[in-house]
Amino acid sequence: MKRILITGASRGIGLEMCRQLSERGNEVIATYRSPNSAGNLLELTNKCRNLHTYELDVNSSESVKSAICRIAEKFTSIDLVFNNAGILDWSPLGEVTAKSFQSIYNTNVVGVFRVSEEVISLLTKGTTPLIINLSSRLGSIELRGQSQLGGAIAYQCSKSALNMLTKQMSIDYARHGIRAIAISPGWVKTDMGGTEAKYEVSESVNLFLAQIDKLPASLNGVFLGEDGEMIPW
Ligand SMILES: NC(=O)c1ccc[n+]([C@@H]2O[C@H](COP(=O)([O-])OP(=O)(O)OC[C@H]3O[C@@H](n4cnc5c(N)ncnc54)[C@H](OP(=O)(O)O)[C@@H]3O)[C@@H](O)[C@H]2O)c1
Repeated sequence: MKRILITGASRGIGLEMCRQLSERGNEVIATYRSPNSAGNLLELTNKCRNLHTYELDVNSSESVKSAICRIAEKFTSIDLVFNNAGILDWSPLGEVTAKSFQSIYNTNVVGVFRVSEEVISLLTKGTTPLIINLSSRLGSIELRGQSQLGGAIAYQCSKSALNMLTKQMSIDYARHGIRAIAISPGWVKTDMGGTEAKYEVSESVNLFLAQIDKLPASLNGVFLGEDGEMIPW
């Protein structure tokens, strides 16, 4: 049994992780941006005694601090954090606005930074503590040019930056005993992925959680696919 914190748990991959991880007997701390979009999560909480919900907007330092503070009043440690909250704009170069670019960085990169820095003290008290950042193959600089995927320039850049943040966390947080890895869930049928995507959300989550279960406790600073394969940065 692990104690696991998830951001962006109101829908999509975050909500499905809450479902599967709590079904497996873990204690899940599910965070959501706003009650307005968290109906399904709050409903799930009624059925699962080991699922706890907190409001946390990764775009706001105050919201992150206040949520982690409330979480720390109830829990003494956390073993695993999924930085899952994310947003996408499909606009290519030439069309994307600076405002959208900034907003995507604020959520996908700075949001991960805010949550991770704030949760360090709870993680240090956890067992084999690990941060998993939900990245994307669209953030791989090496894969760019080898496939037709892409065009969502701000999102791509944000996930490349997230990858760098993950790598640096894996180095700097090692002194706290915390590891950090990036995972791409594949192309998933969520509001973000759309209906044409390869995986049902339950399928993707089931796949990558199985890979995470198999990870050696020493693995750190890598970028993995939903199938456990290494993805080039
Ligand atoms: N779907 C894919 O094909 C795919 C592929 C590669 C990577 N990913 C990554 O996987 C993660 C989850 O994606 P998804 O497909 O589940 O997306 P989604 O269905 O659009 O859900 C996004 C989640 O993030 C939350 N969120 C957005 N901004 C937030 C904020 N400021 N604070 C807190 N929560 C916030 C949303 O909350 P609200 O309900 O309040 O908006 C929602 O719960 C993302 O990081 C995404 O980049 C997805």
